[in-house]
Amino acid sequence: MLITFEGIEGCGKTTQIALLHTYLEKKGLNVIKTREPGGTTFGETLRKVFLHTNMEVYPLSELLVFMAMRAQHVEELIQPALKEGKVVLCDRFIDASYAYQGYGRGVDLGIIETLNRLVTKGVRPNLTVLLDCSVENGLKRKAESADMDRFEKEELAFHNKIKKAYEKMSKADPKRFFVIDGSLDIDTIHRTIRKKVVALLKNYGI
Ligand code: TYD
Repeated sequence: MLITFEGIEGCGKTTQIALLHTYLEKKGLNVIKTREPGGTTFGETLRKVFLHTNMEVYPLSELLVFMAMRAQHVEELIQPALKEGKVVLCDRFIDASYAYQGYGRGVDLGIIETLNRLVTKGVRPNLTVLLDCSVENGLKRKAESADMDRFEKEELAFHNKIKKAYEKMSKADPKRFFVIDGSLDIDTIHRTIRKKVVALLKNYGI
């Protein structure tokens, strides 16, 4: 079972993944938590360099770097974990490429779809939790935290494109996307996600 988390910068997905992970672990489930970009030694090493570089990176190059990290992530970690019957919680996955490199940077969506299909080897999320919050609130939260990465430093118009992209994708695939108002308090969001996930696990006999 693969559950992915998506949303704009500062939407609170990392906090929610951690809470869900702890909850499922306490329930005795075999669950792992991972993230993109990253998740493997290769991915985490590239992430450090890539997110904080001031070098000019062209949209297609950016897409290919994320795809390389995803290929490694699926092959090394996600697919083996799924084969072992684990529940995998992933902070960003295929949809981030459509949102950021596609709708954000203007790379052709067809190219992204082809590459996503190639690098994921057919692995698809069973559920995608989308934390919806305003760009202003998200960026405010980020500005209060550590140093900003190259995406967080983008202008408002870019972040608005990402927000709209996620809205569009969630409407196009309402079965997979579970949209939650990210402005609610942390505990309310956690309980809502928990309920949804528990019901899904039940459906799968887990
Ligand atoms: P993010 O989850 O926002 O990290 P953090 O919560 O630690 O700030 O991910 C880092 C950035 O990577 C984010 O701005 C979105 C970007 N990204 C893409 O542009 N394309 C992708 O395919 C992925 C996975 C991430």
